[in-house]
Amino acid sequence: MASFISNSAAETEELGRRLAQEIQPGSVLALTGDLGAGKTQFVKGVVAGLGSSAAVTSPTFTIVHEYLGGRLPVYHFDFFRLEDRQLIAPLGLDDYFFGDGVSVIEWADKFPEIIPEPARWISFEAKSESTRAIIAK
Ligand SMILES: Nc1ncnc2c1ncn2[C@@H]1O[C@H](COP(=O)(O)OP(=O)(O)OP(=O)(O)O)[C@@H](O)[C@H]1O
Ligand SMILES: [Mg+2]
Repeated sequence: MASFISNSAAETEELGRRLAQEIQPGSVLALTGDLGAGKTQFVKGVVAGLGSSAAVTSPTFTIVHEYLGGRLPVYHFDFFRLEDRQLIAPLGLDDYFFGDGVSVIEWADKFPEIIPEPARWISFEAKSESTRAIIAK
């Protein structure tokens, strides 16, 4: 387990960039933490660190955003507004989670039962306006 203190949005993004260097095909990152805790900021770093210049925004009206152009494709999910996990069943999540890309799920703890076992859980907690505790299990 590794824990970090981030003192700015840029530092959180840098942590994502660093993680991207060691990320393997088929990785699943399960992100938890309140609104504004820095999850999307971290995903920006992961995507940039993989070498993609895609613009990262949380999927709100769609279930998944795909970012291409980097070393590995990234599939970005956000379960915050998802009320019923059956709604995403038809998507064939296994194709994402067990594919050759990288899946990143914000609010993963909302439906932990659908997060595959080898997922890496990373929690984000605001300690002050610009300080975040980031803990990777
Ligand atoms: N140390 C920090 N790390 C990350 N973000 C920070 C930090 N300090 C301030 N911020 C600000 O906090 C906000 C984090 O927003 P972000 O969208 O990443 O949160 P989130 O966890 O994805 O929230 P949501 O659950 O709404 O998707 C941004 O406005 C960012 O500028
Ligand atoms: Mg977000």
